[in-house]
Amino acid sequence: MEIVNLELGQDSYPIYIGSGLIQTADLVTSHIKGNRALIVTNETVAPLYQEQLENSLCGINVDVVVLPDGERFKTLETLTLIFDALLQNNHNRQTTIIALGGGVVGDMAGFAAASYQRGVDFIQVPTTLLSQVDSSVGGKTAVNHPLGKNMIGAFYQPQCVLIDTNTLATLPARELSAGLAEVIKHGALGDREYFDWLELNIEGLLAMDAQCIAQTVKRSCEIKAEIVGQDEKEQGIRALLNFGHTFGHAIENGLGYGEWLHGEAVGAGMVMAADLSVRLGMCDREGALKLRDLIAKAGLPIAPPPGLVNQFTELMGRDKKVSDSGLRLVLLEALGKAKLVDNVDDVMLQQTISGSDRLLS
Ligand code: NAD
Ligand code: GLY
Repeated sequence: MEIVNLELGQDSYPIYIGSGLIQTADLVTSHIKGNRALIVTNETVAPLYQEQLENSLCGINVDVVVLPDGERFKTLETLTLIFDALLQNNHNRQTTIIALGGGVVGDMAGFAAASYQRGVDFIQVPTTLLSQVDSSVGGKTAVNHPLGKNMIGAFYQPQCVLIDTNTLATLPARELSAGLAEVIKHGALGDREYFDWLELNIEGLLAMDAQCIAQTVKRSCEIKAEIVGQDEKEQGIRALLNFGHTFGHAIENGLGYGEWLHGEAVGAGMVMAADLSVRLGMCDREGALKLRDLIAKAGLPIAPPPGLVNQFTELMGRDKKVSDSGLRLVLLEALGKAKLVDNVDDVMLQQTISGSDRLLS
């Protein structure tokens, strides 16, 4: 087992990474302070892993709520199902909420924990690649609103993250690719050496080679933990983790949640951000092309859906990264070095959106 620590003073926590960890009694229970817990999972993950997790929670009185599966259910309405389960089963402030599933379950369970009785403990047990390398770490929790992605939420850190890489064995190939988008993002925004390693190992990752996966999960968790440890509430450097996301969120929102997977939208979003970086003279074309090619090799889209062009700017304006002074984008100075840029040239942004003269296709 590997342990990556996220250092946040008294809110610090360990990220345990290994195979078969769900069945390791004591690992989760050592982070539960009372004797009650609510597992929040969904209808796909419950039949696969709920029993294994429950069996390792020796001595804890466990209830379970099974949510409908899908990004389109990441809503305030579904959140109510978690509060109903907590209240119907008389959970008090000493309870612990355990998220068992991908990023959708993790984001919703985390937000429920942040707000139930003004805050109860929670633990992340992520079961998709995307949630293991990104969403379970760092304490961003949220639900979507019809007018914007992740618009209602809180920063709220878990007690620990338990990553059992064995759970990826049941993950569909499309979801694996979606997770690779966030992995590639970590290399592209701040670690060129990691990006080069990913280029060399992309086939192994797509084939779910156990060693490649373990190394990737660990390195991505280290990168994310290091950034969040410096800037928990996204006042500065953490915003770099949104590379590709302002474009990506516009795609998710414009198409309707769940039409494209989050990772797919981020894949195309990163190519758009790279394209704009080249147009603005910030980044060399060669680096941007390498990024595009790795995203394509990972099985991800490299261009936005054509039908959204006319609405794209308006959709981007609904992103949380919009400040009082306008659109703020994460762009590339070079492959492996991202930078925040305010008020980009509108003509060039429109060229990137419309794909006119697309530099990277
Ligand atoms: P997801 O939670 O929808 O999971 C993808 C699919 O895989 C679902 O159908 C799920 O039921 C299924 N699944 C989960 N584990 C499985 C397993 N082991 N075997 C088989 N099927 C399994 O999607 P995701 O990609 O995990 O997460 C995307 C969400 O995460 C988005 O809502 C996004 O906004 C959010 N996100 C949050 C952060 C953050 O910092 N909080 C970061 C990135 C993304
Ligand atoms: N996914 C971006 C962040 O966690 O900050």
